[in-house]
Amino acid sequence: MINRLRIRLTLWFIFLVIAAYILDASAAYWMLNNRLISSTENNLRHICESIAPAVDYVDGKPTLSNWMHVAIERNIPYENTIQLFGADKTMFESYGPAGIKKLVNGRIDGVDDNGRLSVYSHYINLPAGCFVQTQLSFQSIDQITSAFISDQLIRGIPLVLLLAVFGWFYSGRAVAPIVKSLDTLRTFIDDAGHELNTPVALIENSIQTIEAELQEKQLPTDVLRIIQRASSTLKNLAQRLLLLAKMEQPSISMHFIPVNLAHLVTDVVHDFSQKAQGQGVDLQIYNLPDVTVLADPDSLIEVFSNVIENALHYTGADGHIYVYGFRNDNGVCIAIRDTGCGIPIKSLSRIFDRFYRVDQARSKKDGGTGLGLSIVKAIVEVHNGNVRAESSPNKGSTFFITLPIASDKESKLSQLSAANRV
Ligand SMILES: Nc1ncnc2c1ncn2[C@@H]1O[C@H](COP(=O)(O)OP(=O)(O)OP(=O)(O)O)[C@@H](O)[C@H]1O
Ligand SMILES: [Mg+2]
Repeated sequence: MINRLRIRLTLWFIFLVIAAYILDASAAYWMLNNRLISSTENNLRHICESIAPAVDYVDGKPTLSNWMHVAIERNIPYENTIQLFGADKTMFESYGPAGIKKLVNGRIDGVDDNGRLSVYSHYINLPAGCFVQTQLSFQSIDQITSAFISDQLIRGIPLVLLLAVFGWFYSGRAVAPIVKSLDTLRTFIDDAGHELNTPVALIENSIQTIEAELQEKQLPTDVLRIIQRASSTLKNLAQRLLLLAKMEQPSISMHFIPVNLAHLVTDVVHDFSQKAQGQGVDLQIYNLPDVTVLADPDSLIEVFSNVIENALHYTGADGHIYVYGFRNDNGVCIAIRDTGCGIPIKSLSRIFDRFYRVDQARSKKDGGTGLGLSIVKAIVEVHNGNVRAESSPNKGSTFFITLPIASDKESKLSQLSAANRV
């Protein structure tokens, strides 16, 4: 549980930092792109303005042929496209690298004789209603921005790895107080279970001695019965506390072996059949799938005993309890349905909490501790399964216990490791 919490904390930490990193990198990308575009725009405007005075007009048409001669003579390199357009926006002349023959301010993507082009373009009006336009290929801007993106990605990978290590380390420190509290709680539950066991055994022995004496003197034993019931409640509580403590360290206290679930459930149901008959309750099994699960058999017996015991407890005479099973997406599900008093909707989500009882007074009177279903949940979860309940008040309840089915390989491996342990 703690490890799962640490993994979740670490993943959240990495997720949040990556989200912040992506936001920051996107903002930096946007700023870089804008800066590059505005500097290109200024550059192009400046070129247009400096070329405009060199434009000659022959028969009303703009020309830069004289300027070109000078440029060629002086060997002036120019990497921009320079275009001249008439008042009707048709292009007359074009110098420099290939450009797109369209009068546009801003980015244009188009096709030229040289293929697909992407340029940034700027034009200004000439006195005769004509236009001079310069264009610069977007290639250099694209190169800078894609280099920026790959730099961010390259920087991001070690950053994520580093964050994972830091996240794991710091989540360990963050959960340390929780681990400590859980340890204290675990020790407390274990100690309380053990500490209760001794006085309960003493009380039970004393009851037997006093009972014998009272019977000998033919005195009433009513008060003794009350003490006996209280003692059995205490014994029940001690055993359940010890079981709960056991669930906290399943690797030490449980041995997982391949178990035929149908056989195990049938045995448990048979153990309760006499009690059911005595109560006038019809307890039936049907459709149990023949599957193997990897489980600690004693713990699984505890699970089904608890749920069937509850069903018997809360189902009156002439009631029915059906135990059946089916396969589902998560493995195999065993359902225990009763036609008893049911559970109020508001209590359904709480019945698996420790010490929760729907009817506190009645359950206490019956010797219930309110720990049965929390033990069921803990055991089922240790087996990587889940348990849930459905109920309609006054109609009955159904408890669904789902467990993963063991594959042949898992069964063999577990048999091997069990043999090695022996
Ligand atoms: N089949 C059922 N029908 C109706 N109510 C139920 C059923 N199973 C459980 N409950 C309710 O859920 C509560 C919790 O059950 P849980 O088994 O944890 O405790 P308990 O039976 O009271 O005590 P114990 O620790 O001895 O099992 C019960 O007190 C009861 O109110
Ligand atoms: Mg119970």
